[in-house]
Amino acid sequence: MSKKVNTIGVLTSGGDAPGMNAAIRAVVRTALAEGINVKGIRRGYLGLLEEDIFEMKSKNVSDIIQRGGTILYTARCPEFVLPERQDEAAAICRKHGIDGLVVIGGDGSFRGAAALAKRGINTVGVPGTIDLDISCTDYTIGFDTAINTAVETIDRVRDTSTSHERCSIIEVMGRHAGHIALWCGIANGAEEILIAERYDYDEVKIIKRINKRRETGKKHYIIINAEGVGESENMAKRIEAVTGMETRATIIGHAQRGGTPTARDRVYGSVMGAKAVDLLISGASNRVVAYKDSQFVDYDIEEALAMTKDIDQYMYELSMRLSRG
Ligand code: ADP
Ligand code: F6P
Repeated sequence: MSKKVNTIGVLTSGGDAPGMNAAIRAVVRTALAEGINVKGIRRGYLGLLEEDIFEMKSKNVSDIIQRGGTILYTARCPEFVLPERQDEAAAICRKHGIDGLVVIGGDGSFRGAAALAKRGINTVGVPGTIDLDISCTDYTIGFDTAINTAVETIDRVRDTSTSHERCSIIEVMGRHAGHIALWCGIANGAEEILIAERYDYDEVKIIKRINKRRETGKKHYIIINAEGVGESENMAKRIEAVTGMETRATIIGHAQRGGTPTARDRVYGSVMGAKAVDLLISGASNRVVAYKDSQFVDYDIEEALAMTKDIDQYMYELSMRLSRG
């Protein structure tokens, strides 16, 4: 017979992502419906250490499902890697009666959750990041909204790029992963997709392709560049200098991390938040919720962190076939 959970804490950690509010709402309402108290923890592990903790009722999560960002705020808390801070955090959870904790964030946040689980606080992670860079899951909260926002923005840049017969380098987020760039590159019909996982950093090849395309009468040249490759402004200057084609860099930046979540991010965020509570009720700890092969599942956190995920090779090759054909 598993120990009954009395109070569930919930926090968001790392970069925010549209759909996190849907997950928070689901945590709060699923738990309250089971007679479990809920405590919101503001600003991730930083707020936990500062005891920025408040009781959450159903009305605290009214009117948030359609809002981007996270009502709990988020933060990065580098000191949370220290065992003494983790001891402190576990003691704070106990002081506030928190015997179950839902951590919405990425791999780094799950490492913190695993540390608390080792200290007797039952924890479940929910994958929230626009980058899609959590290996155990095919879906992360926020990716769908982020790519749709970026795709719309890139379409706009493409219009003006065509009018001016320019080359445009558009940088999308993803410091450690090129998933956003790959999806946008395909969705926007870009001529080039530069992602750190595949790019050989040979600009001469790109320049040759630009010149070849211009000879065929092509009016614009769209390069989607991942943040992990970076250098967009300098790259634009170099390409313009060598090709003579006017080249502009646009860095979309944080605009793609905000905004109204898509239906998918609201629905999957809700399912994942509720599943995290169901897991805690069942007595589980040190788990992460995932979406794998069209099913909502869960894994042991260490097992999940040991998994690896690469860029989809077929999609990457397809992007080149479609743009260079
Ligand atoms: P994400 O959760 O999106 O991967 P970060 O890597 O920035 O984002 O991690 C978010 C927070 O999780 C960090 O600021 C820190 O508080 C905590 N964290 C990261 N790595 C660890 C770790 N190895 N041990 C404990 N906590 C960690
Ligand atoms: O949340 C992921 C992410 O948006 C990455 O794509 C990006 O590299 C990073 O966060 C940016 O972080 P910050 O908000 O600190 O600029």
